[in-house]
Amino acid sequence: LKFLCYSNDGVDQHMIWLIGLKNIFARQLPNMPKEYIVRLVMDRSHKSMMIIKNSQVVGGITYRPYVSQRFGEIAFLAITADEQVKGYGTRLMNHLKQHARDDDGLTHFLTYADNNAVGYFFKQGFTKEITMEKDRWQGYIKDYDGGTFMECQLDSKLPYIDLPA
Ligand code: ACO
Repeated sequence: LKFLCYSNDGVDQHMIWLIGLKNIFARQLPNMPKEYIVRLVMDRSHKSMMIIKNSQVVGGITYRPYVSQRFGEIAFLAITADEQVKGYGTRLMNHLKQHARDDDGLTHFLTYADNNAVGYFFKQGFTKEITMEKDRWQGYIKDYDGGTFMECQLDSKLPYIDLPA
């Protein structure tokens, strides 16, 4: 199992994985317009942390880092159907947190969680209480009808994953 983070950088293998991830999102998030999913996954200001198993993508998180504001917005998150409830979603989020803190310099994540995913986000340390000052995020992220607005504050020191020795 590998956890790799890429954006649309023109590298063939990365494109293949991003298209695979886009297909997982389209299937797992049936209420999202497919064109909207493609647009954000392929948009160069978004990045995707992906789980690669036997060189196939089995899940991922697409997010937009607002580096100047030091927060990221999670747009989509899904694990392919036959790999759910194996702990992959938790490991994926931990890899995202580590990468966002150490490589992007972010301190928080915001997301509009689907109602059926609110429980998952709670378990990953997200809350409905938004502690970031409004002027840090207002005007940066789009208002979205439906879904629960949630925040996660990243710990400045906690090791979220076991780093290779
Ligand atoms: N509601 C409540 N708890 C959940 C849910 C849920 N929908 N999904 C998983 N959990 C729990 C698990 O029981 C587990 O609890 P435990 O640690 O006490 O055992 C914990 O959350 C983590 O489970 P994982 O196995 O790590 O989660 P999984 O790999 O199945 O991934 C995910 C979770 C990504 C939500 C997956 O179920 C999925 O792809 N769902 C469909 C797509 C979806 O809803 N995506 C989120 C939409 S919101 C958005 O994209 C911003």
